Amino acid sequence: MLGSEPWERRIKNRSEVQREYQDEKWGGLLARVEESPWQLKLSDLDAIMQGGDEVVLFSDGPDLFETTARDAHLRYRDFVAETLKRYLDASAIVELGAGYGSVIVDLARRPEFSGLPAYGLDLTKAGADLIGRMAAAEGVNVNSGLCDMLADEVASSAIPEGALLFTSYAAHYEPRHAASFVEGIAALRPGRVVLIEPCHEHCDESTLLGLLRRRYIEVNDYNTNLVTLLHEQREAGRIRILDERRAAFGPNPLLAASVIVWEPVDRN
Ligand SMILES: C[S@@+](CC[C@H](N)C(=O)[O-])C[C@H]1O[C@@H](n2cnc3c(N)ncnc32)[C@H](O)[C@@H]1O
Repeated sequence: MLGSEPWERRIKNRSEVQREYQDEKWGGLLARVEESPWQLKLSDLDAIMQGGDEVVLFSDGPDLFETTARDAHLRYRDFVAETLKRYLDASAIVELGAGYGSVIVDLARRPEFSGLPAYGLDLTKAGADLIGRMAAAEGVNVNSGLCDMLADEVASSAIPEGALLFTSYAAHYEPRHAASFVEGIAALRPGRVVLIEPCHEHCDESTLLGLLRRRYIEVNDYNTNLVTLLHEQREAGRIRILDERRAAFGPNPLLAASVIVWEPVDRN
């Protein structure tokens, strides 16, 4: 990170994301679920993917804290729930890029969210399959299916109009978003859109932590233009930005998530 040793810049593209998630992470997790003699629950998958008792750092606003990997993940999910709770006047709650369902299945089992139809959609078939299995294991109703945030038709299943749509550490897998990203999401006719994503433009260049965060995004080929794009869309009158919070919470302090809440401007 500081350039004291040689490093290789990673490249993110569609086949790399498919390799990382379909072939390795979610594919491997699905095989473990299928092979397990007993039914694996969400906490089992979280322990495998997010870690357990090992000590890690997380960031809450500008501050860093030490805790276990398990606790950092639980705190992150509480942060997501707190963030989304303000926008529950919606027809449904939809997560795009929902992975194995750690966030959306957890939300669906919280009383404040239980009245809303829930959808957990992912780019990978293994992810969609795991979301369905985890919802069943937790006894909650989450519609699972495929989506591609970069496609003209983002969701392969019908999403109710006026939904609360959100992403969590998924939109940043595209190094440069185009206006079509906003158009594709707006075409789903959501009420509000909440992006909980690391943002390159939100890294504070006046602090060492901010500079390390910027470097971390660049080394991993994560997105560098999400904030710029959303501001351009606002200036063009296509969206309204309702909230923008910089590097609000980081289960990994080098990859802290910002929160950007927006709604499409109805052009009919
Ligand atoms: C780091 S995981 C995050 C999973 C989940 N949102 C969470 O917070 O636990 C990133 C997920 O984004 C998905 N993803 C990446 N690019 C995507 C795209 N263009 N459309 C939909 N999902 C995508 C991957 O398949 C993966 O499941």
